[in-house]
Parts: sequence; C-alpha cells; structure tokens
Amino acid sequence: MNFPDAIASTSTRVSVIGAGNVGSTLAQRIAEKNLADVVLLDVIAGRPQGVALDLMEARGIEGHDRQIVGTVDYADTAGSNIVVVTAGLPRKPGMNRDDLMRTNAQIVVEATKQAIAHSPNAILVLVTNPLDVMTYLAWKASGLPFSRVMGMAGILDSARFQTFIALKLGISPADVSAMVLGSHGDLMVPLPRYSTVSGIPITELLDAATIERLIERTRNGGAEIVELMQTGGAYYAPASSTCRMIEAILLNQSRLLPVASYLQGEYGLEDIFIGVPARLGSGGVESVLELDLTDAERTALYSSAESVRQKTHHALEMLKDSV
Ligand code: NAI
Ligand code: 2OP
Repeated sequence: MNFPDAIASTSTRVSVIGAGNVGSTLAQRIAEKNLADVVLLDVIAGRPQGVALDLMEARGIEGHDRQIVGTVDYADTAGSNIVVVTAGLPRKPGMNRDDLMRTNAQIVVEATKQAIAHSPNAILVLVTNPLDVMTYLAWKASGLPFSRVMGMAGILDSARFQTFIALKLGISPADVSAMVLGSHGDLMVPLPRYSTVSGIPITELLDAATIERLIERTRNGGAEIVELMQTGGAYYAPASSTCRMIEAILLNQSRLLPVASYLQGEYGLEDIFIGVPARLGSGGVESVLELDLTDAERTALYSSAESVRQKTHHALEMLKDSV
C-alpha cells in the first residue's frame, strides 16, 4: 500500500509551517483530535516528510483517518483553511535579540507570503517569537483582514497560571480558569481578579504574596522550561494552546480566549497586536471583549503595549523593503 502524497482538495486542511518541536507536536494534536488533515512544511528536506510518515504510522493505533503530509513545497499547502506559522530560529550563541528578531521576521514574512499566496482564504495563526511583533508583520505581509490574523500566547500563559494556581491549591486545573492579557514575555499581564476557581476569584482563596509568586512564575514560564531542558523550549503546552485556537475556529465554537488580536481603539490601543480576550469562531477573531481594568492593570497593559509597539516599529524599519 502506498501512503498518499497529497491531500484531497475537499478535506479540511491545516498547514503548519515549521516542522520543529511545536509544529510537529501541533500536527499530532490536530490529527489525533480528528480536527483536520495536516500539511507540515519545513525548509529542512526530509524532516517534515519523516515526521508526517511517523504520525501516519500511528493512525491505526490512535484510531483516526486524518492525512498528514510532509513537504518543502508551498504548493502542497494550497487551499488550507488555517495556516499556522511556527517557523523560526532559536537564539544562538553570539546572536543578539536584534539578530534573532531580524532572522525570524524575515522567515515569518516569507513564509506568510508564500503560504497565503496558495491559501488566500485561510486564517493565519502565528506562534513564532517575539509573538506579538511577528503577528503584526505577518498581518502586513499577508494582506488579510485583521480578523483573520492572530497570535497564540495568552492561552499558553493562562494555562501556566492555571497550572500554578491548581498546584498551589491542590485541586484539579479543570476547576481553575485563569486570565493573562498583554504581550508574550516579561510584561504579560496576569489578572488575578478575573482568575477563578469554580467561580470564586483567587483573591478570595490565596493571599497577595502567594498570588504574586504565582504571577512571577507564570511570567517566567517559558524561561523556566528552557532552563530545565537546556536545548530548546516548551512545546507540548504551546501545541495544545494552538490546537485550542484551531478547534475553536474549525468548529465555529465562539470560544472566548486570550489571543493576540488587532486592536482598533479597544483598551485605548490602536494599530497593535496584543493579547486580549477575543471571541474565536469560523470568521477568526470575531470580536474583542473589553474588560473593566483597574488603574494598575491598565498601566501594566499600557507598558506591555508600549514595548510591543517599539519592537514592532523597529522590526518594520528593519524590513522596510519587504513588508
Ligand atoms: P524548533 O527549532 O524546534 O522548530 C522551528 C522549525 O522552523 C525548524 O524545524 C526549522 O527548520 C524551521 N524553519 C526555519 N526556517 C524556516 C523557513 N524559512 N521555512 C519553514 N520552516 C523553517 O522551534 P520550536 O520549539 O518548534 O519553536 C518554534 C517557534 O515558536 C520559536 O520562535 C519559539 O520561540 C516559538 N514559540 C512560541 C510560543 C508562544 O507562546 N507563542 C511557545 C513556544 C514556542
Ligand atoms: C514559551 O513561552 C518560549 O514562548 C515560549 O515557552
């Protein structure tokens, strides 16, 4: 029996650009949840094909019939319902943040242009870091309406906060609902007032110093894993978080999730992608929910936004001929 080397054009299809740790784990999640067929694309010939074949060989055991195809050719991604960009480089010795930003920006812009040329009706989900900046660049490069472009970070950051709250209280994470807004990084904005355990705000259950420690651990969540693993960063929870967005879109679930979304005046912010609660459905980001924030929460969101804005301007300046 031959494995198919193409996906029938009628099937729901998600293309994942970058078949590294996050991309290949995401492909597994999408297929095993039976959400869509998956095209995995990478620049390293053989890598996406190998991962795809490995995932295909697990289908009988996992009990699904989704097709997973690996490729280095964007033509194979044609007609995708969703394109996810995870392509990028980690920081290498001797590389400063600007070098990394320039390299990943070039990769993201090129990947976006090629993918959207083959799938002009797709919804675009960014994962590559620095997340909020890359989402803005991809939006510019794609020419898509902003409602069809978004970045994954808030679900991951909220899941980490949820985990630490659940561990601290010795309860199931299923009963914890956590909310983290703002940029993906040191200036993210965890919101204890809007984080609850079975409807009870955590401010009723934990003292302020304990909450502050959990917030600090959440802010440091990505770095904590890098420190432990030494080579590479987190990918299981990032893949689950991205898959949650894909599920909401493909199944038109109208989920309210923290997503890096384009703002046009909400929260007093304009022309920026940053994490806010957004309603996700088949149209992409269908609306943004504006929460009532205290002065301190708003100030924290503005600092986060200011940092994203500066980095975005800098990236646009670096890439002025290609975006
Ligand atoms: P990885 O290094 O395992 O995979 C990246 C893949 O991108 C590699 O296979 C590489 O060959 C590929 N690639 C490089 N240039 C490419 C190009 N021009 N076209 C197609 N593929 C290309 O990295 P990992 O762990 O999968 O992370 C990927 C990105 O996601 C990183 O930027 C990371 O910082 C980011 N990330 C973001 C998270 C978030 O919350 N937004 C969470 C976790 C990771
Ligand atoms: C994370 O938060 C590094 O963005 C990556 O794990």
